[in-house]
Amino acid sequence: MRRRLDGATAVVTGATSGIGLATSRLLADHGCRVVLVGRDQVALRRAARQTGGVECLVDLTSPDAADTVVRAAGGQVDLLVNNAGVGWAGPLEAMPADQLGSLVEINLVAPLRLTRAVLPRMLARGDGHLVLVSSIAGYMGVAGEAVYAATKAGLRAFADSLRLEAADRGIGVSLIVPGAVDTNFFRRRGQPYSRRLPRMASADAVAREVLHAVQRDTAEVFVPRWLRLPARLRGAVPRAVDVLQRRLG
Ligand SMILES: NC(=O)c1ccc[n+]([C@@H]2O[C@H](COP(=O)([O-])OP(=O)(O)OC[C@H]3O[C@@H](n4cnc5c(N)ncnc54)[C@H](OP(=O)(O)O)[C@@H]3O)[C@@H](O)[C@H]2O)c1
Repeated sequence: MRRRLDGATAVVTGATSGIGLATSRLLADHGCRVVLVGRDQVALRRAARQTGGVECLVDLTSPDAADTVVRAAGGQVDLLVNNAGVGWAGPLEAMPADQLGSLVEINLVAPLRLTRAVLPRMLARGDGHLVLVSSIAGYMGVAGEAVYAATKAGLRAFADSLRLEAADRGIGVSLIVPGAVDTNFFRRRGQPYSRRLPRMASADAVAREVLHAVQRDTAEVFVPRWLRLPARLRGAVPRAVDVLQRRLG
C-alpha cells in the first residue's frame, strides 16, 4: 500500500540546505504541509518561500528543541524526516572534546529526542512515518570519521529497534543510507570529499529516495543502490572488507 502524502504534516530537520531542502521541496510538491527546521534564518525564510512551508528556527541541540518543533507543527506530525547532521574529519585524538559532544548531540541525540516527542501522537492515531538519514559510514566505518560513523551507526540501531517496536502499531520507519552527496556538508566540516567511489549523488536524488521510502514503507535505502553490497559484505566477512577498505583508501 502506498502512503498518501497529500495533506500530511511533514517535519524536515536540516531543511535549510542540501538533502533536507531538496526533500522539503519534493514533499511540498506532493501536497505535504512542511515544517522546516533549521538555524540559518535567511535560508529558512528562502526555503519557506520555495515550499510554502512553516519556519521553525531552532538549534536542535537546545534542550527544548523537540517541544519547539512539535509546537511549530501544531501538535500533529504525520511524517518526521530526521535529516539534520554535521560531519567532522580527522584523527580521533585531534578532535576537540566539545566538538565530539556537539556532533553526538546533533547527529544522534536530537533525532532520538524528536522521535520520542512525535511518537505518542502517531501511536494514538495508529499512523505515522519516521525517516532517519544515516550514512554508509554507519555501516562500513571510515578512518578519520570515527565519531561521525558512530553517530550514524547509532541511528541504524535506533531505526531497526523502533521498527520492531512500532511496525504493527501503524508506524513506518525508513533508514536512508547515502554514500557521498553534493551538498554543503564537506565545506562545513572543512575537508573536501576526496574518494573516487562512491561518486557524489545529488541532493535531489537522495530526496527522491526518501519520498519513495515513505510512500512504499521501505525499511532501508542505499544511495546509490549498489552500496548495499559492500554494506552486506561488511556484515558477512568483516576482516576481508577491512583489508579491502585499507587498500582502497
Ligand atoms: N553530504 C553527504 O555526503 C552525506 C552523506 C551521508 C549522509 N549525509 C547526512 O545527510 C544529512 C544532511 O546533510 P547534507 O549533506 O544535506 O548537509 P548540509 O547541506 O550541510 O545540511 C545540513 C543541515 O543540518 C542543519 N543543522 C546542522 N546543525 C544543526 C543544529 N544544531 N540545529 C538545527 N539544524 C542543524 C543545517 O541547518 P542550518 O545551516 O540552518 O544550521 C542544514 O540544514 C546529515 O545528517 C548528513 O550526515 C550526508
